Amino acid sequence: MAILFAVLFYFAGILLLGGLAWRIADYWRTPVPLKIPTTPAPTTSGGVVLRMMREVLLFESLFKSNLWIWIFGAMFHFSLALVLLRHLRYFTEPVWSWVALIQPFGMYAGITMLLGLGGLWGRRLFVERIRYISTPSDHLMLLLLMGIAASGLMMKFLVHTDVIAVKGYFLGLMHLDIQMLPGDVLLFVHLSLVASLLIVFPFSKLLHAPGVFFSPTRNQKDNPRESRHLSAWAAKMESEKS
Ligand code: HEM
Repeated sequence: MAILFAVLFYFAGILLLGGLAWRIADYWRTPVPLKIPTTPAPTTSGGVVLRMMREVLLFESLFKSNLWIWIFGAMFHFSLALVLLRHLRYFTEPVWSWVALIQPFGMYAGITMLLGLGGLWGRRLFVERIRYISTPSDHLMLLLLMGIAASGLMMKFLVHTDVIAVKGYFLGLMHLDIQMLPGDVLLFVHLSLVASLLIVFPFSKLLHAPGVFFSPTRNQKDNPRESRHLSAWAAKMESEKS
């Protein structure tokens, strides 16, 4: 099992990093011929940075458009951030002091993460209009994340695993040295689902995480009257012509 999971995690890690690099390069190269910031929009680069930060850290536009989705979405994403930061203890030795400090919060964040996901899934199941436009992958992504959170919480509160050994195993993997992995079913479930998440990430809707930075309605300045908009590729073509 230790070897099987080692192969799985190396494969998943390479696919995640390679896939993300490929998708981001694709976004980077995509022509943006039109000036289309959603107004009212900032007129300076500093303003765009601030707007993007509000969007990424507070989900500002979602807050303005739908408070219910914002509540569940924010609950899920903020909790996920805490849970992931809490997991840093499995990959660092000695554990950084601020990671040690957030451990108790990270634990309860697992519960709020599951609640947030439950709310988002309920919306897809019970709101007729949303159910109609939901695809199988919308449901599967939510189920995958709920499965990861539920198996993690069960390990935390019901059937414990040897977390010291889990840490030894992942520190080992980082140094290409395969260690023993505890033989607990819940841990196998948790890790298989996590590896699946890493594998599907670059090919799924979860790409909205890096994608938001490339959204022209959010990353453009409102200055079409001051300067003619020329995308990078068009500017290059113009300079090659002259
Ligand atoms: C290779 C990466 C990962 C490893 C080795 C790992 C391992 C673990 C372990 C051993 C626990 C039980 C903690 C305890 O008993 O104290 C746990 C809990 C949990 N895991 Fe993971 N996990 C990983 C990735 C993830 C990811 C990507 C997510 C979320 C998408 C996640 C979500 C959770 C949650 C919500 C809990 C319960 C709350 C907590 O104890 O933090 N895990 N994980």
